[in-house]
Amino acid sequence: MATRIASLDDAPAMSRVLREIIAHTGRDRPSDEAFVTRQYIANPASIRCTVAIDDEGVVLGFQSLVRAEAGNRYEVPVGWGIIGTHISPRARRKGVGSALFRSSRKAAGQSELENIDAYIGADNQSGLRYYEAMGFQTYRTPEGIVQKVYTVG
Ligand SMILES: CC(C)(COP(=O)(O)OP(=O)(O)OC[C@H]1O[C@@H](n2cnc3c(N)ncnc32)[C@H](O)[C@@H]1OP(=O)(O)O)[C@@H](O)C(=O)NCCC(=O)NCCS
Repeated sequence: MATRIASLDDAPAMSRVLREIIAHTGRDRPSDEAFVTRQYIANPASIRCTVAIDDEGVVLGFQSLVRAEAGNRYEVPVGWGIIGTHISPRARRKGVGSALFRSSRKAAGQSELENIDAYIGADNQSGLRYYEAMGFQTYRTPEGIVQKVYTVG
């Protein structure tokens, strides 16, 4: 497994990962290629979007790190990072999320971010445990949500 910065050519594979997660969790959400391109790969607020690939180059998952802008829907303070992690159910618990965070953490340091927000469903046990393992701590709990912060330091 390896990680690299996402390119526009990754949109179909990243869309597939989102559809696999939807099929697995039953939680619907946007997943088409145009959304992936706009939201993750070519987002003007993006700091880094990293994909993880297997030995054959198949995309296993991705992680986006964007800079929080005024009026962001998570109500994250302007200038913080906002992170999102999406890993195929086929590839879970094999260190993919950890490898992706090493890439995002590096980009956060290079961009002089001080804090990174993770916005997680309160019922998403694997998401909660994952971000805790990466060093995030709960700072806010709007209804049904847990927001965790990572201090880049
Ligand atoms: C949550 C998610 C990102 C974890 O990714 P992953 O590649 O499985 O994570 P890793 O294998 O790198 O695990 C790192 C650590 O996180 C913790 N962890 C991850 N999944 C866990 C789970 N299901 N239960 C308990 N701990 C878990 C563990 O401490 C793990 O270390 P260990 O395996 O040595 O015990 C992945 O399952 C995913 O993309 N889920 C769907 C989307 C999602 O929920 N995104 C995040 C919240 S919005």
